[in-house]
Amino acid sequence: MTGFVSDPVLEVRELSTSFFTDDGEVKAVRDVSFDLAAGETLGIVGESGCGKSVTALSILGLVPRPGRVVAGEILFKGRDLLSIGREELRQIRGRDIAMIFQDPLSSLNPVHRIGFQVEEAMRAHDKVAPSEVRPRALDLLRRVQVPDASRRMRNYPHQFSGGMRQRVMIAMGLSNRPEILIADEPTTALDVTVQAQILQLLRDLNRDLGTSIILITHNLGVVAGLCKRVIVMYAGEIVEEGSTEQIFDSPQHPYTWALLRSLPRVDADRHERLRSIEGLPPDLIAPPQGCKFNPRCPFRLERCFSEDPELEPVGDGHVAACWVTMKRAYAEMGAGSLVDTRPGAASGVRPPIAPETPGLSGADGHGLAPEAQDRD
Ligand SMILES: Nc1ncnc2c1ncn2[C@@H]1O[C@H](COP(=O)(O)OP(=O)(O)OP(=O)(O)O)[C@@H](O)[C@H]1O
Ligand code: SF4
Ligand SMILES: [Mg+2]
Repeated sequence: MTGFVSDPVLEVRELSTSFFTDDGEVKAVRDVSFDLAAGETLGIVGESGCGKSVTALSILGLVPRPGRVVAGEILFKGRDLLSIGREELRQIRGRDIAMIFQDPLSSLNPVHRIGFQVEEAMRAHDKVAPSEVRPRALDLLRRVQVPDASRRMRNYPHQFSGGMRQRVMIAMGLSNRPEILIADEPTTALDVTVQAQILQLLRDLNRDLGTSIILITHNLGVVAGLCKRVIVMYAGEIVEEGSTEQIFDSPQHPYTWALLRSLPRVDADRHERLRSIEGLPPDLIAPPQGCKFNPRCPFRLERCFSEDPELEPVGDGHVAACWVTMKRAYAEMGAGSLVDTRPGAASGVRPPIAPETPGLSGADGHGLAPEAQDRD
């Protein structure tokens, strides 16, 4: 959805990216639109395979074969990255828009020292004066809290731990003072303590340098700690977008609600089984008719099998693509017995909406009561 931010630095418009495989066209990203404002922190979440990385790779012109962007516009400060030349795009990549990949070891060159690689990232773009390159590399490594940075600059990647390598990748990503940093699962391979440190680092960088950040993760808990706004993707499409508060306190798409229920809670009973979302994401070559979440949705209606819902406003700056929406489901089904497993939900039974409504259990896969009405 667009139009939520004024003066966006990045505007993604109706982006679709497919992989043309022997088995058919894999529609990995479909009709995705969003804006990113200067200095904003935006999270993109969803299960594995929902199109998060392909969205990021499309922005940077890095979609691997047999994939390609088939439709849309990607405007960086008003210029369409899909129609500029390869060399111009290469210059923007790394200089204006930087990306931190999921696996820092495969992104670092094993035969070059760490310091050299951070310096090279700057030399490649001529944005930093040659005399500034070395001191800036040292300053960046200190900023990302590599201890004893001047000595460690002479180390090779294999001499660094996973967390330290991820810090180096962040330093490289920031080396040309990019306006946008895209971090794709930057903490997934790290233990919880290091994960918290990296997130703190990204928060500091956003605050101190004003870098806009797109954080891609399957973990909503990680998003909550960094992002002001969240996009939820399912099967290549955006199904919900809102402020982090709206997404956590009042999720409107059943998939978002299910994602939140699958988060571990600090205060949960140790023996309570972590709820996972039942079923599997659809085949992206032949997705189901209608709403793509319908095979897994506990609230589906007849209409959900034939008509695909569009994103519609469900609050101020909040949109969801669902014929029912959770607000409707709570109002019509009742919420009393829906267990709220979100982190921070104190009672464990706090429904986000209509707490006074007595109710049914909504997550048993049986669908909404026949008398429930469509959204419109
Ligand atoms: N090289 C490829 N060939 C064919 N299909 C691909 C290829 N790469 C990605 N896809 C398809 O694109 C879809 C989206 O992939 P993507 O990597 O964006 O998922 P993701 O949301 O980043 O998942 P994860 O959380 O596992 O990183 C996948 O479901 C897959 O079907
Ligand atoms: S209620 Fe229908 S439209 Fe909404 S998520 Fe479920 S299947 Fe999709
Ligand atoms: Mg990915």
